[in-house]
Amino acid sequence: MDAILNRRSVREYDTSKKVEYETLLKLCNAAEAAPTARNQRSREYIIIDDANQIEKLSNVSQGARVLKNCNTVIAVIGKNKEEITTPQMQDQDLSCAVENILIEATYLGLGSCYIGIHPLEDRVKACNEILGVAGGAFTFALITIGYPKEQSVFYDKKKFQDDLVHHNRY
Ligand SMILES: Cc1cc2nc3c(=O)[nH]c(=O)nc-3n(C[C@H](O)[C@H](O)[C@H](O)COP(=O)(O)O)c2cc1C
Repeated sequence: MDAILNRRSVREYDTSKKVEYETLLKLCNAAEAAPTARNQRSREYIIIDDANQIEKLSNVSQGARVLKNCNTVIAVIGKNKEEITTPQMQDQDLSCAVENILIEATYLGLGSCYIGIHPLEDRVKACNEILGVAGGAFTFALITIGYPKEQSVFYDKKKFQDDLVHHNRY
């Protein structure tokens, strides 16, 4: 629960430190532990630590500019919809994977930030081109990963209000 409550979007990283590849694989493993509709396993991942690639990705949207402050990114990729059983639920599969990466990163003392790509077509197209994603697969989201410049993670008490919760009926 601590990792869930303390997770915050981190946008400034200590780029003198690199996250080990093994750790990044752990994050992808956490992502794949998330559920998928009818167990369709509709996701793949790209670990990106090439500065040139990250620079290109930082220009795909205003929100992606945060990539200029990091040295590692995980792209969450959706498999070709024609190759899965329940394509109408694929976005939910992918979102569950993203959240698991964010939480596991917090648990491991790393910072992360969700950069929205899908369903904005211009962003998806730009990311696909940069990352060589083809054959009907698509870039769903980018996640910055790294050691936070400042230990800014904290539990934001304002996030949860009792009146968000309804009992038996809305
Ligand atoms: C679908 C989605 C897209 C997001 N896209 C971006 C983005 O492009 N750039 C960014 O800096 N943060 C992005 N965020 C992070 C949100 O801005 C952040 O979660 C929100 O401000 C709440 O802050 P917190 O994550 O620290 O709780 C995105 C979050 C979600 C869920």
